Amino acid sequence: MAKLVLVCGASVAIYKACDLASKLFQAGHAVRTVLTPRGARLVAPQLFEAVTGESAWVDEFAPERRGAMDHIELAKWAELVLVAPASAGLIARLAHGQADDLASTFVLAVPAARPRLLAPAMNPTMLAARPVQRNLAVLREDGWRVLEPGTGHTACGDEGKGRLPEPAELLGEVERALRH
Ligand SMILES: Cc1cc2nc3c(=O)[nH]c(=O)nc-3n(C[C@H](O)[C@H](O)[C@H](O)COP(=O)(O)O)c2cc1C
Repeated sequence: MAKLVLVCGASVAIYKACDLASKLFQAGHAVRTVLTPRGARLVAPQLFEAVTGESAWVDEFAPERRGAMDHIELAKWAELVLVAPASAGLIARLAHGQADDLASTFVLAVPAARPRLLAPAMNPTMLAARPVQRNLAVLREDGWRVLEPGTGHTACGDEGKGRLPEPAELLGEVERALRH
């Protein structure tokens, strides 16, 4: 059983991340969630807290976090990082080391040897866009396991590749990564 940090970007697929967090917890893992500020506008952090029994983090500059350095403490705690859903914006920040929110700063502070998985989720045209593909290639080179998005109907009404894999599949990927 591992200590996992689930990082959620502002993708419509964040609704599936709640189920994912619940499944990871039910599988026996300790799950802490970090949402980007825009992710937290789509789904309340409190929901992740309810299904994992652990705190969820968004903003280490919040007045109640004064005196803490959440990005460092979370990075020391995490045995595995799973970014799901990874929006195009979050992918860009991670690929460039642009540490401008807790999610992207935390990831930089995680030692390179720890397993890191990333599940892109976006409109098919966005996923195919050259900047996104470039950023994903950079992340692969940096040691990220980039999970293959699903194909089918996307929330925006388009058909194609860009869906977040189902939570059960993501759980399987986490278990596989922990075994290696
Ligand atoms: C309802 C809604 C759904 C969105 N879904 C996606 C998505 O699935 N993938 C994506 O890359 N961007 C999506 N966006 C756009 C991102 O939220 C936007 O680019 C944002 O700046 C990304 O923030 P983040 O980098 O903190 O994830 C969506 C926006 C809205 C309002």
